Amino acid sequence: MSESLATVSYIGAIILFILSLGGLSNPESSRRGNLYGMIGMTIAVLATVFGPRVSMAGIPWIIGAMVVGGSIGLYAARKVQMTQMPELVAMMHSLVGLAACLVGFANYIDPIAALNLSSAEKAIHEIEVYLGILIGAVTFAGSLIAFGKLSGKIGGKPLLLPGRHFLNLIGLLVVIVFGWQFLHAETISAGMFALTVMTVIALLFGMHMVLAIGGADMPVVVSMLNSYSGWAAAATGFMLNNDLLIVTGALVGSSGAILSYIMCRAMNRNFISVIAGGFGTGGGKPAKKADGEAQPAGEVVSINALETAELLREAKSVIIVPGYGMAVAQAQHTVFEITQVLREKGVNVRFGIHPVAGRMPGHMNVLLAEAKVPYDIVMEMDEINADFPDTDVAIVIGANDIVNPAAQEVPDSPIAGMPVLEVWKAKTSIMMKRSMATGYAGVDNPLFYKENNRMLFGDAKKMLDEVLTALKA
Ligand code: TAP
Repeated sequence: MSESLATVSYIGAIILFILSLGGLSNPESSRRGNLYGMIGMTIAVLATVFGPRVSMAGIPWIIGAMVVGGSIGLYAARKVQMTQMPELVAMMHSLVGLAACLVGFANYIDPIAALNLSSAEKAIHEIEVYLGILIGAVTFAGSLIAFGKLSGKIGGKPLLLPGRHFLNLIGLLVVIVFGWQFLHAETISAGMFALTVMTVIALLFGMHMVLAIGGADMPVVVSMLNSYSGWAAAATGFMLNNDLLIVTGALVGSSGAILSYIMCRAMNRNFISVIAGGFGTGGGKPAKKADGEAQPAGEVVSINALETAELLREAKSVIIVPGYGMAVAQAQHTVFEITQVLREKGVNVRFGIHPVAGRMPGHMNVLLAEAKVPYDIVMEMDEINADFPDTDVAIVIGANDIVNPAAQEVPDSPIAGMPVLEVWKAKTSIMMKRSMATGYAGVDNPLFYKENNRMLFGDAKKMLDEVLTALKA
């Protein structure tokens, strides 16, 4: 493929990536957005592999690597459950970070990369290498810890080392000092030493940064690591002199940064404070007993599926609040059937979606779209929160943190200040979950004990099937 055809293909791919991001901003156009992204990526890969910078001798190696990587990716994508998607995404971010590190080291020791460079160009090249490895290592280590936290392999409780801000500051200073040494290194081995020290510090910083973040703030971290992975890809693009990688990385980096900002606003958090860690501790009372159950704080009134169906049948307005448990139970199709039955009976049914419900941005919207719930009855939290006082029944399906009144009522709660769906203001709220356990943030939920709240204990799918049968009877 000639240089000019490769350039045209790259421009085409970039346009498709931009269209893809635009499409993903709305559920109705998201399929089209995905399609644009896939076509763009296919063009990008073909133009790179068959482009002027890859020799014929290199093609079998690339194809071999693509077969191995593609097979692993295909296997993982087919095997992974919808609920494990955020872990998969975190794992993929870590691979982008790892790639940036490996490309950086390879670039530094590659004798051809620095050949024919003027001293200014050499300095710029080395800055690219240093920064690329730095961002890559932070992304790699942070994403691995995020993977551990999201999959439950590492506890959600923030790790707060004494003097953690001071430690971060020392780390930053060491990185700057070794950066200076790296730029002035006389030999490759002296440069490698500086690079290795910086990499170790960046890895520790990445781990520390994510370990210090509280459970409820994980959404911000996930989108932030998404952004970092974009910048790591852009850094790789600089090191490899690949314009497409630079632009694509910058697109991912900036859209991830915007998403992090939106998440922070949705959680009423200060971006810098979340990054600095320690949010989600708040000095609040310990959330769990040893067995993971919430502390008792009043009387809990339980209800069964028949009684739930009765309440729903008599209601004029119902708001359904789905959460992570709906995804676990894969109850969205039954939720839709119940919605249909109720709407046929003239009940005004709507959905209230919290921006961080579930485990990834848009998680609930994806599930409800999959179950074919009409978009016009799916409301954002801000659109629906004021309507709870005029609602007969608010039914919470496998959600917990996002409906926790402690965010408003308990000033020293770890989630204090986080906006929540005010389901307790409805005439009756019904909470469907399997036990009294806390949610992801590990914070007690006083909603369980409110006078107008009823608990419907059991797996969401099983319970909703029973409710549906009772409604149809
Ligand atoms: P959670 O607070 O995690 O609560 C989910 C509840 O679902 C649990 O308390 C669990 O209680 C119940 N559950 C689990 N499996 C169930 C099943 N099969 N049937 C019925 N109930 C089931 O979820 P949420 O309210 O959606 O809030 C999201 C939380 O995740 C927030 O803290 C958020 O910050 C965090 N987070 C979000 C994201 C994004 S981007 N959305 C990313 C990372 C973290 P039982 O065990 O008693 O059933």
